[in-house]
Amino acid sequence: MAVASTSLACPHFSGLRRSSCPKLDSPPLSISTAQSFFQNLDSHLRLSSSSPRNKACRPVVAMAGSGKFFVGGNWKCNGTKESIGKLISDLNSAKLESDVDVVVAPPFIYIDQVKSSLTDRMEVSAQNCWIGKGGAFTGEISGEQLKDIGCKWVILGHSERRHIIGEDDEFIGKKAAYALGQGLGVIACIGELLQEREEGKTFDVCYKQLKAFADAVPSWDDVVIAYEPVWAIGTGKVATPQQAQEVHVAVRDWLIKNVSAEVASKTRIIYGGSVNGSNCADLAKQEDIDGFLVGGASLKGPEFATIVNSVTSKKVAA
Ligand code: PGA
Repeated sequence: MAVASTSLACPHFSGLRRSSCPKLDSPPLSISTAQSFFQNLDSHLRLSSSSPRNKACRPVVAMAGSGKFFVGGNWKCNGTKESIGKLISDLNSAKLESDVDVVVAPPFIYIDQVKSSLTDRMEVSAQNCWIGKGGAFTGEISGEQLKDIGCKWVILGHSERRHIIGEDDEFIGKKAAYALGQGLGVIACIGELLQEREEGKTFDVCYKQLKAFADAVPSWDDVVIAYEPVWAIGTGKVATPQQAQEVHVAVRDWLIKNVSAEVASKTRIIYGGSVNGSNCADLAKQEDIDGFLVGGASLKGPEFATIVNSVTSKKVAA
């Protein structure tokens, strides 16, 4: 059965979707209202009118996916032992909503420090890893080593690695497959350049990057997709909630059509690109935004906590 959006019956979801479908005996949105919502959405997305979304029982849901809200902090190449010590102590003392997976990704050399001082409430991710088993690969870190040091996750396909270091789709896909094989979760990043957006190629670029992951990974169980438009990363130019939602819907529909409805429902699709304490709540309210990958603002403990806790605006919206 198509779990994510093709059924008129309301499936059970473990995440925030419990109130996603109007009960038959309550006064929900009228069918015509719902239809016009989906027609509007689909034409906006330039998706075909036969999209399963037209039949979906989800006009007022706050969380389309069934997974838990997920917030990752990508510290990039920032920090010193001292500043990271302060950040860890701020994070340890922050009050974090319980129904959020929280992950931080320090630079490799600080992972051990973070692992030994961060509370178990948060998990640790690497920002990259080698494509295969370790050996004579100067400067690289293998998936086995990440597991050994207590990492649960690795970020792969980040735009800075794609566009500054030059990693291509196939290389990234192979890395993802190997990391999953080692028992790591993968935060799989996709996203278009500004020029690609301006040329109307946003969906094509994202689909191509998604396909490279899909072709390589044996399972999507431990994959979180991070949609990060390159023009929004580190620029302060955040995508509007509508711009982000539009691509997240397209990604979920791509998963329905190319992988399975079950994977589309279960896989978290998080947004990244200039997320901060002020814009996170509006973004979080979007139905297909299942969390965030945060760069700059993750270096400030209290602000990162605000972003983690934006899950509450999703619950209110539900
Ligand atoms: P930013 O970075 O939040 O600083 O824009 C996001 C990312 O690169 O993951």
